Amino acid sequence: MKVAILGATKGMGRALARQMAARGDHLCLLGRSPEELERSSADLAERGAGSVSTARCDLEDPSSFAEALDTATEALGELEVVVVTAGMFGTQEALAEDLERAHRVLVVNYANTVIFCEHARQRLLARGGGTLCVFSSVAGDRGRKPVALYGSSKAGLSHYLESLDHRHRAEGLITICVKPGFVKTSMTEGLKPPPFAGEPESVAAQVLEAIDRGTPMVYAPPIWGWIMLIIRSLPRSVMRVVGF
Ligand SMILES: NC(=O)c1ccc[n+]([C@@H]2O[C@H](COP(=O)([O-])OP(=O)(O)OC[C@H]3O[C@@H](n4cnc5c(N)ncnc54)[C@H](OP(=O)(O)O)[C@@H]3O)[C@@H](O)[C@H]2O)c1
Repeated sequence: MKVAILGATKGMGRALARQMAARGDHLCLLGRSPEELERSSADLAERGAGSVSTARCDLEDPSSFAEALDTATEALGELEVVVVTAGMFGTQEALAEDLERAHRVLVVNYANTVIFCEHARQRLLARGGGTLCVFSSVAGDRGRKPVALYGSSKAGLSHYLESLDHRHRAEGLITICVKPGFVKTSMTEGLKPPPFAGEPESVAAQVLEAIDRGTPMVYAPPIWGWIMLIIRSLPRSVMRVVGF
């Protein structure tokens, strides 16, 4: 596969890029830090990637999106798969106290990610299709006390990704929405892992299989699909009382 991936320098994106490299996929890493991109690029080349290139792309700077994807297309020869794992997190307490940071999280995770996907959509459709795989979150599945701000950004993103899949699948554009539960990465460092916390490597294996099969939605680890089914069905009177 010829893959542009935004967020491969850490966490689940890094684990996914490593598994793609191990099977010889061609990768273009998009990211904001030249040093992190170079470090990851060397690591992936060593792990067997068919080729690895890099391009600057900052999710806080939409003016970087078109050029990053064009650079990736040139480096890869063509763009078959675009993956977005990059995102920002903050606990409800931290974001509610720092509205400037809350604004950044909302803009990065929702508005700017959607606009990045629109640039990717145009390029993938222009070549007759491909796969767009984007990491949202279980936090967007239900209005919940601990994730009112972060979760609302992911709710909007999940809604957009589902719509995109409905609109364009017949034209050959497959959109995959990944909804991780709690996964142990740099994003969740310092937080107490709940039961069923996942590892980035197993999530990556699940996502790679979904990309190969064109599965439109992935709960990772899978048990989160059942957990969220229950949480979505709880009445509001219960949600007001419980703490999760
Ligand atoms: N971990 C969880 O429990 C969990 C649960 C649900 C959903 N998610 C979602 O899953 C995705 C991956 O999470 P993760 O835990 O793997 O995160 P992570 O370990 O914190 O990695 C985040 C990645 O995003 C990149 N990034 C952050 N801000 C960026 C920006 N402005 N421009 C470009 N790249 C940027 C980082 O690049 P740098 O190297 O430059 O920092 C890094 O590669 C995120 O969308 C997250 O919201 C995570």
